[in-house]
Amino acid sequence: MKTLIKGGRILDPATGHDAIGDLWIQDGKIESITPPGAKAPQTKDHVISAAGLAVAPGLVDMHVHLREPGAEYKETIASGTRAAAAGGITSVACMPNTDPPIDNLAMVELVLSKAKYQGVVNVYPVACVTRGREGKVLTEMGELKAAGVVAVSDDGDPVSSPALMRCALQYAGMLDLLMINHAEDKGLSGKGVAHAGFQSMLLGLSGIPRSALEVMIARDLILAEETGSRIHVPHVSTEGGVRMIREAKARGVLVTAETAPHYLVLTDDSLQGYDTNVRVNPPLAEQKDQEALLAGLRDGTIDAIATDHAPHSRREKEMEFALAAPGICGLETSLSLILTALVETKILTLLQAVQCMSFNPARILKIPKGTLKPGADADVVVFNPQAERVIRASAFLSQADNTPFDGWKVKGEVVMTLVGGRSVFENNEHTKAIHPA
Ligand code: DOR
Repeated sequence: MKTLIKGGRILDPATGHDAIGDLWIQDGKIESITPPGAKAPQTKDHVISAAGLAVAPGLVDMHVHLREPGAEYKETIASGTRAAAAGGITSVACMPNTDPPIDNLAMVELVLSKAKYQGVVNVYPVACVTRGREGKVLTEMGELKAAGVVAVSDDGDPVSSPALMRCALQYAGMLDLLMINHAEDKGLSGKGVAHAGFQSMLLGLSGIPRSALEVMIARDLILAEETGSRIHVPHVSTEGGVRMIREAKARGVLVTAETAPHYLVLTDDSLQGYDTNVRVNPPLAEQKDQEALLAGLRDGTIDAIATDHAPHSRREKEMEFALAAPGICGLETSLSLILTALVETKILTLLQAVQCMSFNPARILKIPKGTLKPGADADVVVFNPQAERVIRASAFLSQADNTPFDGWKVKGEVVMTLVGGRSVFENNEHTKAIHPA
């Protein structure tokens, strides 16, 4: 039996394909893309009508906090991967700031085994750069890579010592393991809770200067250049960050970068009202920063859009702004926010948006995902880019609901998500139409 996704707008950033057609799936793999109606399905084939819908490689989110083990009250691998599927995401790289942290073989195996039995999308663990995320002793990167980790990071904390980071880059480089360093100099961010600027001053919130992000990016670019190793800069949020990465890329430094949807749609103006759901690290910055990020996405300086999905419980958010945990849930809003703010406004084409959310992160992580080429795993998202919907945090499949986007009217609805050819999420409203009773 084959699955036919029929008559959709098929987007494959790996080949530049963007045309109406039929997508054929067999035995969990992409079989072919054919012109609409060119080949008739057999009676036993499963046909999914995608007329008016987009059909793209399942999204790859390279920055996700699944919180397991240790903070299962916020999220679990089971709930987080279901939330991913609802957002059209079929692969996630999960960060190691768990409790205990993912810094040894046993922890990697635990995450992989939970993902296998309880998860519904592909989970790629990121392991710590240093034991216990303490910034003192390097982890056994070779052993971790052999166990299946795709990158190392002490996310949530930077590797503060330049000497240790230099050494870590040399090891990671030798192993061809991606280094992701949390872009924050803790000495500069101090006890700050919001971007240091007019808004934080007006609201009486202690500020985090943009240099907190930029000093760490500058240091890491120098070390990556010297060692010749790859470095990936997470959650880029300021103009200076974009500029330095652009210059480093032009010099041939092996740097890649990501930003998150919240930096593309919000600025520090949204601090007014003290909604703790906009407290995030790095903090939301200014209009000129947002413009620089958008320009960076357009010219390829910023390669990927990743959610930095950071679920927290209500009791960690329902309190005074300065005391609330930083982070925003992103898995179930990311595609719609990008479609609404970047594609509708023609900042990116739909194909470019899909590229930043699937093919590019897969390429950076060196995982065989993010494409609809024949033979690739049939990880597919079918979505309606035009459908209007209202984001409802209460309907999230994530265990958490910390989002500043509750009630936002957005474009874009995920209709179906397939992993290895199997449906892992179906939007009931739509599938009723696809499979009439
Ligand atoms: O806002 C954030 N929350 N930024 C991070 O870097 C970590 C994350 C978390 O783990 O909650």
